[in-house]
Formats: sequence, structure tokens, C-alpha cells
Amino acid sequence: MKTRVFGALLLAGALALVYADTPANCTFDDVMGDWILYETERSGKADIDCDDMGPLVHKTNVSLLYPNIAVDEYANRGTWTMIYNQGFEIKVAGRSYFAFSMYQKTGTKVVSYCGKTLSGWSRDVTVRNWACYRAVKATPVDPKVEVLPLRDTLQMSQSYKYNKQFVSQINELQDSWVATVYPHYEEKTLHDHTRRNGGKASSFLGLARAASSNVMRRLKDAMLPQAWDWRNVSGVNYVSPVRSQGNCGSCYAFASMAALESRVRILTNNEQKPVFSPQDIVGCTKLAQGCDGGFPYLIAGRYGQDQGAVLEECSPYEGKNDVCRTDSNCLRHYVSNYRYVGGYYGACNEMEMKAALVKGGPVVIGFEVYPDFMHYKGGVYHYTGLTDKFNPLELTNHAVTLVGYGVDDKTGEKFWTVKNSWGTQWGEDGFFRIRRGNDECAIESMAVEIIPIP
Ligand SMILES: *[C@@H]1O[C@H](CO)[C@@H](O)[C@H](O)[C@H]1NC(C)=O
Ligand SMILES: *[C@@H]1O[C@H](CO)[C@@H](O)[C@H](O)[C@H]1NC(C)=O
Ligand SMILES: *[C@@H]1O[C@H](CO)[C@@H](O)[C@H](O)[C@H]1NC(C)=O
Repeated sequence: MKTRVFGALLLAGALALVYADTPANCTFDDVMGDWILYETERSGKADIDCDDMGPLVHKTNVSLLYPNIAVDEYANRGTWTMIYNQGFEIKVAGRSYFAFSMYQKTGTKVVSYCGKTLSGWSRDVTVRNWACYRAVKATPVDPKVEVLPLRDTLQMSQSYKYNKQFVSQINELQDSWVATVYPHYEEKTLHDHTRRNGGKASSFLGLARAASSNVMRRLKDAMLPQAWDWRNVSGVNYVSPVRSQGNCGSCYAFASMAALESRVRILTNNEQKPVFSPQDIVGCTKLAQGCDGGFPYLIAGRYGQDQGAVLEECSPYEGKNDVCRTDSNCLRHYVSNYRYVGGYYGACNEMEMKAALVKGGPVVIGFEVYPDFMHYKGGVYHYTGLTDKFNPLELTNHAVTLVGYGVDDKTGEKFWTVKNSWGTQWGEDGFFRIRRGNDECAIESMAVEIIPIP
């Protein structure tokens, strides 16, 4: 995994691409099928280094079936899930396997080898016994070639320019939400904004959208409250303070820690109010790409279980890629379980999200950031379809934390209430509301729930 190195070069280089996460673009159909899992000796610890794999001594066949069933060669049944388009995780026979899908990047050309993985990690479910792992699909998958759009440093290092006309257009077109000009945006470059808005979004074609819900779910939904807000449950607030990620593409780390923080508050009736460290994640894990993005499932979930979170003071936020500076003596706070809401990537929808939220606490969600969203000041957001011609920003995927839902008194519009990581000056005191029930900007497609151990 050389992505972090690439991130540093990106700022220094003469010509740079803006991308986040890994450039692999694999679909459910690419991955579903029979795989051969290769593992090193199962005697490692959690700090195992899999960049340099030892001899592969274990071999297991596993079939990944629709929609999330994994069956090994001994007929043990387990589960599996895609992690967006980046890779997949398998849990079977007491072990959990994760690796990113294989890709090769030369200049702007990316080849995804979706029938192979990079080197990843295998561990037992008690997180004690580790090995390095990689997998190969039994039937080959054709490599997929994509050419990434070239953006030169010159363009991306340009300052963001006010576009008052764009803001007034938004406000003239609709009255569901209000747009404003944020003067400090001009202090940032287009590159800074791209990072702040999240990772590069794949076109959602071929990727999951909100799933339809079945009859039982609808019946259960009828028993959920009409509105919910973890900032005010019978007058009590369970949501930790809004923070600011700065110019680093660390939204996934802030959103993950925010969900963890709130859920610990809920589980301890506010006796514990921890603030966890996003820098520990930016600097220390190979499950994400530092300031170039990452995925909540792997961070709130897998990292939370594998390594655990540390408190902010143990690894204070720097807002840039850096070596891991976390003091290894700090106490770690773990997650006992995690999953995509609905059970796997592709099974999420509005009702599942409401149930997960009310039952367990805030969940980590992702959505597509269009340029109009950056100007949100209040109301119930939906994408207006307008473009900002002064500031050519890419469509990105932004991770945030769901804290509530409701129905607008005046318009009757259903909304989600969401915590952002752009400071308290932005939006509704750092929060925003967005249309609910129609998978607005794919917001109902990839929620992650976690169970922390307080
Ligand atoms: C595992 O999969 C390979 C490739 O499909 C096959 O040749 C082999 O017979 C399988 N082994 C077992 C034990 O099922
Ligand atoms: C990823 O693949 C999908 C479907 O195979 C395609 O439509 C999409 O354009 C690709 N996205 C990126 C960012 O390469
Ligand atoms: C919490 O909600 C109740 C009922 O809606 C309301 O009366 C109260 O003012 C709210 N408290 C805070 C701190 O917002």
C-alpha cells in the first residue's frame, strides 16, 4: 500500500491527480463466486506487517454467494460483504478476512484486478490470532481499465472563488433550504475543498443504492417514533461536540469517532464522555489512506475491533498525513461488533437506518457531495442540480454521522439530522438536515452501525 506516499507526492509533484481511497473499482458481480484464500502461519499478533508476507501455508476454498452468504470447503456457513467498490470482508469458521482488491496505477491509467486481492489480514474473531492473507478467484475476472480524469496541480492549487450568483441561484430555485456564502472558503484551494468534501465518489452505477424494504420491516417501522434526535432525548444530549477536520480528507475518521463517542455516552448514560482521536487513524492504520480518504466500515468497525480507538489527547489532531505518533501506552477502546445497516453493503434503507439509530445510537453514513451542498446554511437539503462553473470540483463521497430524523413542521418534508465535521460555524450549528426516504445523494445506501465497549 503506497497510497500514503503518493499523497505526499501529490502536494509536491508537478502534475497531480486528485483521488482518494484506493482507485480499485470492483462490483458485487465481480466478487461473488468461488475464491481460494491463502494465509501465512496463524501465529501473528495485531501488529503483524503484511506488506511483507511470509510463506503461504494455509489454503481454504470459500464460495461467496448471494446476497451475503460465505460457505467454506467444509460446508461451514458465514457471511461476507463488499466494502463499497474497494474490497470485501469474509467471516467464516471463526475467522475474519479483509483485503483491498488488487489494482495497478500507472499515470492516469488504473487497472482493477477484481479477481485478486492485495495482501491483507486474517484473524480469528477473538482478535488474538493473526495471519497475512490474500485471495484469488477460482474463475478469472477480466481486468478493468479506467482512465482517471487528469487534473493538473495548477488548476487544483487555484483558490476557491466566491460565486455569489451560484448561491442566489440556489435560493431562487427552491425554498426547502438556504444557501450562503462562507467567506473563509476563499482561503482554501480547490484541492483543499476536494479533500474536505470527502473521497472521490465512484459513479454509483453498479454500486449499491438503498434497498427496498419488506413487509415485516414496514410493520416494525410503524412502531418507531415519528421523530428522533440524540441531541435531545427527553431533554438529555448524547451527541459529542462538533469538530473540524480542516483540509485533510479525514471525514471518515471524524464520522466514525463521532458515532463511537455518542454510543459510549448512550451506553453509560453520559457518565463517560470520551472524545476519540482521528489522528491516530490518519497516521496509524493501513485500513485507510490517511488524508486521502477511507471507509467508515473499516474504521469505525474493523479498526475499532482490531486496534481500538484512543482518546484525543493521546494523539492530538494535526490535520495532515504524518507518521504514527500515538503513544503505545495509551488505553484502547474497542468495538465488540460492527456491520453495514441491513447486514451487508447493499441492504441498507430508510427503515433499517431508523431502527438502527433509535435502537443503538448514531450511525456512520456516507453521501455524494455536490457543489451546492458546500453552501448549505439551513433547512432540509436536496441536490438542486445546479453547478458552480467557477469552481470545478469533483463529485465526492463524504462520511458523516446520523443523529436523528423528523418531519418539517411547515412543509411536511421528511428529513435526516446529520452531524458534519466542518466546525460549528457551518450549517445549523455544525449539523444539517437532508431529505429522507428517497436515497437523496445515496445517503440511504451505506450506513454502518457499531457496538462499542464502554
Ligand atoms: C478448491 O478450489 C480449486 C479451484 O476451483 C479446486 O481445484 C479444488 O478442488 C478445490 N478444493 C477443495 C478441497 O474443494
Ligand atoms: C466504476 O465502475 C462502474 C461500473 O462498473 C462504472 O460505471 C464507474 O464509472 C466506475 N467508476 C469509477 C470512478 O471509475
Ligand atoms: C428538547 O425537546 C423538548 C421537547 O421537544 C423541548 O421542549 C426542549 O426545549 C428541548 N431541549 C433542548 C435543550 O433543546
